[in-house]
Amino acid sequence: MHNGVSVTQFIIEEQRRLPGATGDFTSLLNDIVSACKVISNLVNKGALVGVLGTAGSENVQGETQKKLDVITNEVFIKSNEWAGHLAAMASEEEDDIYPIPAQFPRGKYLMSFDPLDGSSNIDVNISVGTIFSITRCPEGVNEPTKEDFLIPGNEQVCAGYALYGPSTMLVLTTGNGVNGFTLDRDIGEFILTHPNMQIPADTREFAINTSNQRYWEAPVQRYVEECLQGKEGPRGANFNMRWVASMVAEVHRILIRGGIFMYPKDNKDPGKAGKLRLMYEANPMSFIVEQAGGASSTGRTRILDIQPEDIHQRVPVILGSKNEVERVVSYHAE
Ligand code: AHG
Ligand code: MN
Ligand code: MN
Repeated sequence: MHNGVSVTQFIIEEQRRLPGATGDFTSLLNDIVSACKVISNLVNKGALVGVLGTAGSENVQGETQKKLDVITNEVFIKSNEWAGHLAAMASEEEDDIYPIPAQFPRGKYLMSFDPLDGSSNIDVNISVGTIFSITRCPEGVNEPTKEDFLIPGNEQVCAGYALYGPSTMLVLTTGNGVNGFTLDRDIGEFILTHPNMQIPADTREFAINTSNQRYWEAPVQRYVEECLQGKEGPRGANFNMRWVASMVAEVHRILIRGGIFMYPKDNKDPGKAGKLRLMYEANPMSFIVEQAGGASSTGRTRILDIQPEDIHQRVPVILGSKNEVERVVSYHAE
């Protein structure tokens, strides 16, 4: 017997506090947890089980799929389709929504997910993750369509990510703070190790892919330039920089020690509003970051207030320590 609180126990106890809760949500979360454990194992074994490398296919966004993009998508769908909690899913790796097949009962939730975030890192053995966002299926809808997914992030019921790093962690919010759990492989359970995670309001660390600098807009140019000038510049302080290229890892770092993460709007490809996807990257991460006391914006709009137009829609993302995000937003307003 372990002494800590498992994620299942934590969710059941949280649900008991909600009037009218049926246990449905707890079971859904259990299936997500199982999927993350399977993915953690696959990522961990890597080349030993032949899962590295490219799959030889492209997803709807024109990105070359890694073998693990395809496998983890399959794992997530198979783990979550059978139990009767979901009505449909939307995945980064599926062109269209995935309605729950007819042989299974349909439930009251919708789930959007990124089965493997940071997949460019998988072959080089750097942290990757899984991101998910749960919303309610609109009342009376049994055959959900794409449009039923298009509700603003501020209506999410739950958001979370699994980080497959030196340890595997699960970080969750149901709108009542953010809690982190670490996978104990000996007993196969996620144990509460990071209760009530809080992002410090101030930071001296930023994350942005500077290879895109020539495409950035003026407010982001200004912000980064001021950070780079350090003690001698207008900020009067030295800044540090990190870029993992796995959003899950960047958000996790920010939850642990603060920081600001930016994948801003740029003019590299005028057809794209940003790189990251609203439904299964920006929204769940923004919910988590705000619940931990941070802020998240496109530079012009709070991300959670955006009315989505497509399940694969892209948005600019600026998130993390509140005071720095607010500064970048104020530069956009000027
Ligand atoms: P995915 O692997 O799911 O396509 O997402 C990768 C995303 C995100 O995790 C990361 O922050 C960003 O892409 C990295 O982009 P660059 O390769 O342009 O740095
Ligand atoms: Mn991703
Ligand atoms: Mn992905």
